[in-house]
Amino acid sequence: MLQQTWSMRLIRFSAIFGLVGAVLGSHMAGSGSYAFRPIHAHIVLVSWLSVFAWGAFYRMYEVRAKKLISLQGWSAMIGSIGLTGGMWLQFLQPFDISKGISLGLYIVGGSVLLLSFALFIAVTFMIDREATFNRGRL
Ligand code: HEM
Repeated sequence: MLQQTWSMRLIRFSAIFGLVGAVLGSHMAGSGSYAFRPIHAHIVLVSWLSVFAWGAFYRMYEVRAKKLISLQGWSAMIGSIGLTGGMWLQFLQPFDISKGISLGLYIVGGSVLLLSFALFIAVTFMIDREATFNRGRL
């Protein structure tokens, strides 16, 4: 079922980025350089915790609008990578790429993420009932 697929996809995505965020935190603690602080903070709070919450939500409630779930899920993943990746390129300038490109990625990524948060509001108004699919195999 599409909704279970999205739930597990978002939870796995968040688990991977939870580790990425923790590695960045460990790197900062070990090196004593806090340049990655905003990227670390956004990876753990957006890519790990917010995306995890969305994944868990889709396990708890059955949502009527299936296309909306896909749109919200894709924008969550693309937006959280775009925002944090764009922030990294823009703030730290690790490669010799133009500031216009890094700023563009940062803005577009952030906007896609914003859209995802807005779509999630709509999702919460499309709940049919509590999920009945949690007893089967994953
Ligand atoms: C292995 C795990 C982690 C390590 C080693 C770590 C380490 C750090 C370090 C060294 C800083 C910079 C501290 C400073 O500026 O004085 C920081 C900032 C921060 N961390 Fe972590 N962190 C970890 C996990 C997490 C998790 C799981 C979260 C949230 C769910 C989190 C949220 C934040 C936030 C919001 C900031 C920014 C704080 C600010 O700017 O005032 N961190 N972390």
